Amino acid sequence: MNIIVSNTKESLAEEVAYLLKDMSDTGEKIHVALSGGSTPKVIFDYIARELSEEIFWDNINFYWGDERCVPPTDTESNYKMTVDHLLSKIDMPEENIFRIQGENDPEEEAIRYGKLLNEELPTANGIPQFDLVMLGLGDDGHTVSIFPDSIQLWDAKANCVVATHPESGQKRVTITGKVVNNAKTVAFLVTGAAKAEKVKEIIKKEKDFALYPAHLVQPSDGELIWFLDEEAARGIS
Ligand code: 6PG
Repeated sequence: MNIIVSNTKESLAEEVAYLLKDMSDTGEKIHVALSGGSTPKVIFDYIARELSEEIFWDNINFYWGDERCVPPTDTESNYKMTVDHLLSKIDMPEENIFRIQGENDPEEEAIRYGKLLNEELPTANGIPQFDLVMLGLGDDGHTVSIFPDSIQLWDAKANCVVATHPESGQKRVTITGKVVNNAKTVAFLVTGAAKAEKVKEIIKKEKDFALYPAHLVQPSDGELIWFLDEEAARGIS
């Protein structure tokens, strides 16, 4: 496990941006699962502003680790957030973008997307293998859209399952633990003081860490990197 602490969100964004650029510079096609929520916004804004001409977008396929079951135009959509902060500002071929179709029936979409991952990605251990999976950390310790009250979904046999947000009841389609932990690189992107306690519990395996889906992120062969700003890291530094 590697922990990179940046003094600001902006400098964290720079770290993540150059990780993506370095991975895309190999000349081979790379498959990247993006995270949703609000943390990625500053990272996507940085990439769009500073690296839009430096990154060879033809070499990257974008997927999502999870999506809210809403239309792609909905303000809740992780895809819409990514369009607003990144895709609308870079020259990435449409055919490189594989969004989870939140407008579809959730169960049918989980099956469709799970099949798509088998078709589009290389496999390792018989499981689709991402080059990079970006993850956020929820205040409750969830990651992708696997929440503490349904932590068993992490171990589902399927590549993708349907989850339900514990407060809003919103349906989500999410990749599962077998796909996350099969990635070559997993990057947790965590900022802000509100996350500091969970970061500490998970990294130090303290208190209720075993209740949090995020603690199950343990790549089998790949690398796990925590990108933290100082606020989120204050419990461990
Ligand atoms: C989502 C995400 C989710 C998110 C965390 C952190 O669809 O909301 O995929 O796992 O990454 O909840 O969200 P914030 O970045 O908004 O704190």
